[in-house]
Amino acid sequence: MGTFLITGATSGIGRAVALRLAEEGHDVLGIGRDESRGKEIEAASSHIIFLKCDLSEPEEIESLMDELKDRAVTLDGLFNNAATFGRPGTPERLAATAFDDVFELNVLAVNRLIQRTIPLLATGGSVVNNAAIVGHVKFPPMLGPYAASKAAVIALTKTFAHRMKGKVRFNAICFGPVDTPLSHKLYGGEAKFQDAMTHHFRGHAAKPEEVAPVVTFLLSGSSSYINGQAITVDGGYTLS
Ligand SMILES: NC(=O)c1ccc[n+]([C@@H]2O[C@H](COP(=O)([O-])OP(=O)(O)OC[C@H]3O[C@@H](n4cnc5c(N)ncnc54)[C@H](OP(=O)(O)O)[C@@H]3O)[C@@H](O)[C@H]2O)c1
Repeated sequence: MGTFLITGATSGIGRAVALRLAEEGHDVLGIGRDESRGKEIEAASSHIIFLKCDLSEPEEIESLMDELKDRAVTLDGLFNNAATFGRPGTPERLAATAFDDVFELNVLAVNRLIQRTIPLLATGGSVVNNAAIVGHVKFPPMLGPYAASKAAVIALTKTFAHRMKGKVRFNAICFGPVDTPLSHKLYGGEAKFQDAMTHHFRGHAAKPEEVAPVVTFLLSGSSSYINGQAITVDGGYTLS
């Protein structure tokens, strides 16, 4: 059984991945900011430990990773999952600052965590970075900073995969719409999200539990020959 570090473990896809790994008997270190939801995931499984950290704050990442290093924690995998879509806006008029918070969390924190995690990863470890179809195959006009950040995540994934030559594998996962608080917010509320999803050609989005096994597969040795890829998982959404 392994030990996995997961960001954004208190909600949505990250929470579903944390719970699934724990069900499989692995230990999970789950990062988030919300302490009450952190306590909830700890209560759901004795295999999960919540670590409070605001990943938009570089010093918080440093002190968390110092603590893991001091405790001689060994990791088998990292799921870089926490992200923000920022503030949607017309690309011709977006202030340059609209990129700041999006890139701080979605790209710079991912890079920082990878850099600090590599020394803790066992040989054969796996890093999965949560990108999105947005930034890979679909580019909604109002989400420029988010799409650019996800394209950057894919580029980072491939760069690290090339550099590490299989000692640690790196893959990006590009989900289509998943039914989570983030997507509800993006669509202006849950009802609007569900309504929009009736146009998904299978009639609805995925639940986080439906997509979590793809991540746990990529984190596991069963995916040992998959490296440096950006894998689309969208129920066919981008076909139409
Ligand atoms: N939902 C979709 O349709 C969809 C599609 C494609 C890709 N994705 C990607 O999937 C990932 C997860 O999204 P989700 O839909 O599962 O969202 P979610 O339910 O809103 O969960 C987001 C998670 O990120 C954490 N987080 C946010 N800001 C943070 C920060 N500054 N520091 C630490 N943790 C932070 C949140 O924890 P706290 O609130 O506790 O801080 C929460 O656990 C994102 O990378 C997103 O881009 C989602």
